[in-house]
Amino acid sequence: MSRPYVIDQMISAKSIAARIEALAREIHAAFDGTDKLVVVGLLRGSFVFIADLVRELDLPVEVDFIEASSYGDGMVSSREVRILKDLRGTIEGRDVLIVEDIIDTGHTLSQVTDYLRSRHPARLKTIALLDKPARREVDFKADWIGFEIPDAFVVGYGIDFAQRNRNLPFIGQVRFTDKPVNAA
Ligand code: PRP
Repeated sequence: MSRPYVIDQMISAKSIAARIEALAREIHAAFDGTDKLVVVGLLRGSFVFIADLVRELDLPVEVDFIEASSYGDGMVSSREVRILKDLRGTIEGRDVLIVEDIIDTGHTLSQVTDYLRSRHPARLKTIALLDKPARREVDFKADWIGFEIPDAFVVGYGIDFAQRNRNLPFIGQVRFTDKPVNAA
């Protein structure tokens, strides 16, 4: 059985919503006049963020998904990023925004960005809700970041701990405890 833990709220649902509104305004300004923006969610962690973000975007939008994995169910990042599911649509000559939940070591987003850039999109930009710069192993900077956070173990709003807690409406911090608790 896994070690018991509790989840302390780190970023409220209200703060996330307010930040997404502001980010959407910046994205709108950057892609104003686009024919159609292809918003690419990196599965699985981005599914909540992309759902909220596209609904704030007053632009013609197509939604696609790509799945890459670097962690499996463990907590240690490997350097090899595998593409588990590719895009359905074509992005050549299109404006693309890659949506990620969190940048940790940077391997995932940097390798997925290189992979999609090789398909010659017109413009390719990246956004991540959370950024942990202290953990960075590769030199990668997203175009937009929701919140910079310390090196904490976070869950919720799409982010999991061993495939649990993705459905929390806020970003929480995992705190292990020796006392038995009812973890969500
Ligand atoms: C997590 C997260 C990012 C990546 C960040 O994905 O969603 O995609 O790790 O880590 P990095 O910057 O060190 O590469 P994970 O592989 O756990 O898959 P998931 O999105 O399905 O949860």
